[in-house]
Amino acid sequence: LINSAVAFKKYYKSISIPEAGKLEGAIFEKGDASVSDEVKRKSLEHKTIALMFSKRSTRTRVASETAVQSLGGHPMFLGSADIQLGVNESLYDTARVVSSMVDGIMARVGHHSEVETLAANSSVPVINALSHLYHPTQILADLQALLELRQPFTTDLSSLQGLTISWVGDSNNILNEMMVTYPRLGVNLQIATPKGYDLDQEVLDRANEGIKQEGGTGKIIHTHSPEEAVKGADVVTTDTWISMGQEEETARRLKDFAGYQVTKELLARGGANKDAIFMHCLPRHEYEVNDEVFYGDKSVVFQEAENRKWTIMAIFDAYFGKWKV
Ligand code: CP
Ligand code: NVA
Repeated sequence: LINSAVAFKKYYKSISIPEAGKLEGAIFEKGDASVSDEVKRKSLEHKTIALMFSKRSTRTRVASETAVQSLGGHPMFLGSADIQLGVNESLYDTARVVSSMVDGIMARVGHHSEVETLAANSSVPVINALSHLYHPTQILADLQALLELRQPFTTDLSSLQGLTISWVGDSNNILNEMMVTYPRLGVNLQIATPKGYDLDQEVLDRANEGIKQEGGTGKIIHTHSPEEAVKGADVVTTDTWISMGQEEETARRLKDFAGYQVTKELLARGGANKDAIFMHCLPRHEYEVNDEVFYGDKSVVFQEAENRKWTIMAIFDAYFGKWKV
């Protein structure tokens, strides 16, 4: 998927930026079969992809709609006010009906079991566009951004080995996705969450299983001290303290997360690397990270956001474009 995402980014950047010469590495090489295949194939031609979103979205929606369009297909956005899903019709019935008419489904749901039910009963592949437990397409885009820190357009995941990523924030879907992804690739995760916001044991088990299976060398360290978590960090990352659906807990959460705002002072106090990069999946609020860090010269947040498109193109191409009945 990373190879393909990088190929898409290279190609689209090279044709959309007039001074292509400036993007030496961005022009895809002749004879590179994987690249020219990705580029030439309108792999979703004559295909319709249902985008079933039961929660708000800016990045995932825009990335998915434009990704389908760029691959020659038709994106069909189905918000919760548009279809019967969950209100007047079961997930089972919805999965059977929608999948009988489309070539792929991307679904943003509440509880993770909802996307699993859709996948189990759909006759076409179903991609998780965010559940309460995981957000896989986000971390794929983040991986592309992390690789770009090593070298533009590299696809060498082994170049990430030994990197230390610090998380200061909630125990949520974004953190969970990082836990099951990064350590298997040899990336260390140093996590700080407030007391009462512990790591999900099932996710931790899955992360450890992945490390074992793939011989990953990354370590997961968990603490309740933001300073301890950022010590020696190459990358510092966080997310909102109030995920979608948790709005009623706002007052309590703002209190519980006191001291967790990512600031230059916190990074200096804890001993993060001087050149530590800042990442955030967005949408962002000032309480979890101040403007100085969020808009600072070490922040790659908009690069991450843009990479949502290239990585979602790669996913759709792989799962919907090549998929055969
Ligand atoms: N990062 C992300 O998934 O953003 P949206 O909720 O806007 O899609
Ligand atoms: N944790 C956030 C991520 C948004 C992309 C949420 O679930 O709302």
